[in-house]
Amino acid sequence: MLKSIRKEVLQANPGLVKYCLLIFTLASYIYACTQSQKEGAEIIPGIIWYDTEGNPINAHGGGIMYHEGTYYWYGEYKGDSTYRLEWVTTWECWRADAGGVSCYSSKDLLNWKFEGVVLPSTPHDTISDLHPSQVIERPKVIYNDKTKKFVMWMHIESPDYEKAHAGVAISDTPTGQFTYLGSFKPNGNDSRDQTVFKDDDGRAYHIYSSEWNKTLYIGLLNDEYTQHTGKYTRNFINLSREAPAVFRHEGKYYLISSGCTGWDPNVAECAVADSLLGEWQIIGNPCVGKDADSTFFAQSTFVLPVAGRKDTYIAMFDRWNKTNLIDSRYVWLPLTFKDGKPVIEWKDKWTLD
Ligand code: DGJ
Repeated sequence: MLKSIRKEVLQANPGLVKYCLLIFTLASYIYACTQSQKEGAEIIPGIIWYDTEGNPINAHGGGIMYHEGTYYWYGEYKGDSTYRLEWVTTWECWRADAGGVSCYSSKDLLNWKFEGVVLPSTPHDTISDLHPSQVIERPKVIYNDKTKKFVMWMHIESPDYEKAHAGVAISDTPTGQFTYLGSFKPNGNDSRDQTVFKDDDGRAYHIYSSEWNKTLYIGLLNDEYTQHTGKYTRNFINLSREAPAVFRHEGKYYLISSGCTGWDPNVAECAVADSLLGEWQIIGNPCVGKDADSTFFAQSTFVLPVAGRKDTYIAMFDRWNKTNLIDSRYVWLPLTFKDGKPVIEWKDKWTLD
């Protein structure tokens, strides 16, 4: 019955059908636009995050620098195929080619413009640290007010992760290109997962997993932020911490880190100190609620104090997808304080308000 009515309408009124189709298409288009605007207004942990050109953001293990009203997000620019190095037998060595270090800029921390690969890999230079077969991880950038240079520190590795070097690059502008200065073992020892922290007094520190990841070193950098001074401390001795993320709150320093389980998640831990160089007091897992013991299936990389907002911090994590590394997701969550301790709780979506 319905079928025959539909047939009659179609035959009698083909113009009406075309009109309805047009209205439907227009309505769908408007709906789609509103949806993407909605996505740009909220942080949704764990989804694919698109840049302003509509491409998935490729900035893993990253860090954010705030400079003159703009946030710059630097991260690992991963190649699009993932492979396992079978000749590495001691652990599951999943790799993607190193594409260098990418940079995205934003005024609102939600909509990110791709500024390019500011430290590119060097496919034609097979002996370079930056050849795609090598590993470039966890880049972080700080600005040096004296030299007016942007200084990038990163973890430089051989494909099997045995090299354990720290690499340094500098640039006159936040969006590069950065000039690579080389890599080395700071204070004569390993440097794997790492971050840098610039304190209010202008001093900067390099925080890095050392001694085969067993002990976390914190070293004071020189005035240019390009080398170590030789002043350093050994922290969390034999506790195997990596993925360090450091921030300051009300005169104290906080350090969030993960355990060492390759690309797989584990429980996070927070420590507090009166001085960057220690001593650090462990105060437990900052993550609470469901999936807190696996850090929401992610690993720490950075804690960002939001500019101009008192006590507002974003805890940034990577949810690694070890068999498709480029598709690893970003888990950003609000970090608040309860009873004097940092607390991070899962949110399906949230806004900076
Ligand atoms: C854990 C580290 O935190 C990551 O940055 C990466 O190096 C993986 N290990 C490799 O397994």
